[in-house]
Amino acid sequence: MDFQYAVPTRLILGRGRIADLPGTAARLGRNAFVVLDPSIRRHPSVQEALDALALRLADRTEHVKFPGEPEVESVNQAAEAARQGRCDLVISIGGGSAIDLGKAVAGLVTNGGGIQDYLEGVGTGREPDRPALPHIAVPTTAGTGAEVTRNAVIRSASGRFKKSFRSPYLYPTIAILDAELTVSLPPEQTAYSGMDAITQLIEAFISKKANPVTDALALAGLRMALRSIREVYQNGTNLDRREEMLLASTLSGICLANAGLGLAHGFASGLGALYDVPHGKACAILLPHALKFNRGARLDKLAQIGRLLTPETGLSTGEYAELLIQHVIELNRDFGIPPDLKSFLISKEDHPLLVEMSMGNSMAGNPVEVTPVIARTILEALT
Ligand SMILES: [Fe+2]
Repeated sequence: MDFQYAVPTRLILGRGRIADLPGTAARLGRNAFVVLDPSIRRHPSVQEALDALALRLADRTEHVKFPGEPEVESVNQAAEAARQGRCDLVISIGGGSAIDLGKAVAGLVTNGGGIQDYLEGVGTGREPDRPALPHIAVPTTAGTGAEVTRNAVIRSASGRFKKSFRSPYLYPTIAILDAELTVSLPPEQTAYSGMDAITQLIEAFISKKANPVTDALALAGLRMALRSIREVYQNGTNLDRREEMLLASTLSGICLANAGLGLAHGFASGLGALYDVPHGKACAILLPHALKFNRGARLDKLAQIGRLLTPETGLSTGEYAELLIQHVIELNRDFGIPPDLKSFLISKEDHPLLVEMSMGNSMAGNPVEVTPVIARTILEALT
């Protein structure tokens, strides 16, 4: 064995724990830059926490994020606003892209420069050499696990790319996991983000870089997510199940930060950059294909997950693995997620670029090597 494992983010999990935000913030700073998803801004307990925050801190700057992944220009503007406001703490409340914006601002304020300098593959190769501002992340969707990862996904409006600002300094300091904040998430987003978490857990579990610590966490996360995802889709107010999905999502973030991902996320990042495809939906569509592609190389691990789905004890390894693949296909069907990418009308001319943009960090973790030629074949079969 040869691996490293890190989770520097302190987790605070519990219903109503958003109420801890003002006190926790006051211990970390005096002047907060608060990134808010517009959809969560009017949530009563978020409003209450922000009001209490105003009494505990000397000052704060509120920044309401645009929908979608943060773009280069908006990240630089947000970082400039945080510098101008002399903020010494970042708070992000929202989905993965709000938390990613928080991470990028926290890193840029202390390290200087623009976000374009730091982006993998397209930047100038600059790396942060100073710790980011303290950052409290409060996820309000259960999917990305961004509250415990060290990268921020940034999109360019003009250059058609989606790249990561990545550094060990970007892990949020504290994550507050309050399932009550996820209750109002509509069924469609609940399904997409839940399938993202499941894809992250499975891809990290079968990844080339998996280790016994991430394996244990991935199985714990999958046990919760696989038994809860249907219920939260049908009955969003079931708090026990919402809480399981939220924790499963956080565990998926811990797993991916330490063990990497695979084929489904490789293609999802290319698709997200070139087309308007929701990340979780792309992952969900690609997951069964990724499982079939990797079946031979990871039969035993897929069977371990399959065993979580049935009380039956006498099946063969192949049958348990197949059970998982069929289960994922059925989940997608029940959530109205298509079996392929045809509905996105991906033009054939875009295939070479799409393959190129899919061969990044995630694809490298796939247990079976995916060459550009293989990627192209998979893509042609799905579009
Ligand atoms: Fe993901």
